[in-house]
Amino acid sequence: MKRTKTAHSRAEAERRPDPRSGRGGPEGASVSAVGTPVRLSRLTMSSARSLESVLQVRRSVREYSRKPLTQDELAQLLWAAQGVTGPEGLRTAPSAGALYPLEVDVVIGDVDGLPSAIYRYKPDRHELVLTREGDQRRELRAAALGQDCVEAGAAIIALTGVYERTTAKYGERGIRYVHMEVGHAAQNVCLQAAALGLGAVVVGAFEDGRVKRVLGLARDEEPLSLLPVGRPL
Ligand SMILES: Cc1cc2nc3c(=O)[nH]c(=O)nc-3n(C[C@H](O)[C@H](O)[C@H](O)COP(=O)(O)O)c2cc1C
Repeated sequence: MKRTKTAHSRAEAERRPDPRSGRGGPEGASVSAVGTPVRLSRLTMSSARSLESVLQVRRSVREYSRKPLTQDELAQLLWAAQGVTGPEGLRTAPSAGALYPLEVDVVIGDVDGLPSAIYRYKPDRHELVLTREGDQRRELRAAALGQDCVEAGAAIIALTGVYERTTAKYGERGIRYVHMEVGHAAQNVCLQAAALGLGAVVVGAFEDGRVKRVLGLARDEEPLSLLPVGRPL
């Protein structure tokens, strides 16, 4: 499971901006058409709450006020899911063989200064790339058996998986590993939301094919978890 440092991974690390410094582009986002990269805001990397108190207070929250999320909050939530934390591209959540089968999309409806659209998080650059324009929350809710929280979230973080990245090395057992990993990433998001005083819930009840169409996923990529996030009422 150990990853050796290759010339390639060293070069990648050198190119990669440090999301804590905000280096490598203007802070905050300006957008956009499909394919446009959007630099996320600098990470705060601190919180008034201890890990223990965050674990104590985390609850599934399904109703939210209409106040938008800030870009800082969104950036922190996405980093918690799959942010890069090590020079060789290692991330906030463990991954079998460091193969990273998960991708992170975010369906944005109400985030300060960001047009409603679907974006893909690029962990290496701590950036978003716009993949589909417009507010897609209603469509996503319909794909999630009409669950209100999916339309009510200011943003919905969608964790998806490319099984082949892990099964190529581990065979059938790789499927189990991908499912474990989505749990790790989802819990990271829930804890980060709690630390920020936000509400989130894990949504696993949805029609795979419909979610896949809303997100515009490739054939080999499956939706695994939806995480609506908003300001608690
Ligand atoms: C894999 C998984 C799938 C879930 N799917 C849904 C869902 O589709 N809709 C929902 O409202 N809650 C869903 N939940 C949230 C659970 O209902 C919730 O975690 C549980 O009631 C315990 O409450 P707590 O999270 O506040 O501790 C899911 C949780 C997990 C772990």
